[in-house]
Amino acid sequence: MWTLDDIPDLTGFTALVTGANSGIGLPTALHLARRGARVVMTAREQTRGQGALDAIRTAVPGGEVELRLLDLADLGSVRAFADGFDEPLDLLVNNAGIGMISRQTTADGFEMQFGTNHLGHFALTGLLLPHLLARPGARVVTVSSDAHSLGRIDFDNLGLERGYGRVSAYSRSKLANLLFTLELQRRARGRLLGLATHPGATATGIMGKGWVARPVGALMRLLLQPAEKGAIPSLYAATSPHATGGLFVGPGPKALTPSARARDESLARRLWETSEDLTGVRFKVIT
Ligand SMILES: NC(=O)c1ccc[n+]([C@@H]2O[C@H](COP(=O)([O-])OP(=O)(O)OC[C@H]3O[C@@H](n4cnc5c(N)ncnc54)[C@H](OP(=O)(O)O)[C@@H]3O)[C@@H](O)[C@H]2O)c1
Repeated sequence: MWTLDDIPDLTGFTALVTGANSGIGLPTALHLARRGARVVMTAREQTRGQGALDAIRTAVPGGEVELRLLDLADLGSVRAFADGFDEPLDLLVNNAGIGMISRQTTADGFEMQFGTNHLGHFALTGLLLPHLLARPGARVVTVSSDAHSLGRIDFDNLGLERGYGRVSAYSRSKLANLLFTLELQRRARGRLLGLATHPGATATGIMGKGWVARPVGALMRLLLQPAEKGAIPSLYAATSPHATGGLFVGPGPKALTPSARARDESLARRLWETSEDLTGVRFKVIT
């Protein structure tokens, strides 16, 4: 079975992990740094980010890790982040996410779970594309969920003004993560690899904040796998030479089959074009 010891030497490798200040993102960034990668970790708030940065620097003395601020629920922040990023990138881990919250909207007026989990990462990937294409074999790993199989996308109700549900909004955003990954893999035609993951039910902040009320979240944290285990599919997808483009990796790590809807190519094309229109970000060299 693949373990953290199988992560290859990553010296000379640059990785960017979104939402790396907590949960699954923190051990993802830590183990990449431990194997020698230069890691840019993002947080949306300086104090929380600094605590995680300090923890990684303590665990990996001499590790090359830095913190930059990014709010995926604000396309202005995504653009400012990308404008300030100017180096070849071997790996982008679209990890950050928000789950099961009451209906809210992003700075640009999109439904929050779709806007953060999908549109923010879609825009980020598109804006960083030239840096990814500068590295042969670069990977884009997007953290989805098996909850994607419950997701539906109604293009006439993208804002979910009608019939908002916490679970259905989350599932929709995770379906969008998978459709995006598989469409990216098709459009890139081998110039980069698109992979998606399902971490497995993991004790993280996402549970206490939104999935269920805080006391139940605390109980679930005792029962669920720790964040380090939840990071295994991401680390496998990010670094294993056996992880091929288009793979959907689950706990184990082992390959999972995306739902029929996630494999629907016309749905993926429509979501891609809609996401370009909504974000104003076009993937210039991948048509
Ligand atoms: N935990 C599970 O059982 C599970 C299962 C399946 C899939 N997943 C997926 O795993 C990924 C990681 O989640 P997690 O479980 O590790 O939860 P988490 O501990 O809550 O971490 C989520 C991270 O995303 C960040 N984030 C939230 N909104 C953001 C925004 N607008 N801009 C930038 N960053 C933002 C959070 O920052 P703050 O600290 O500032 O909130 C945090 O760093 C998510 O994509 C989630 O959907 C988790």
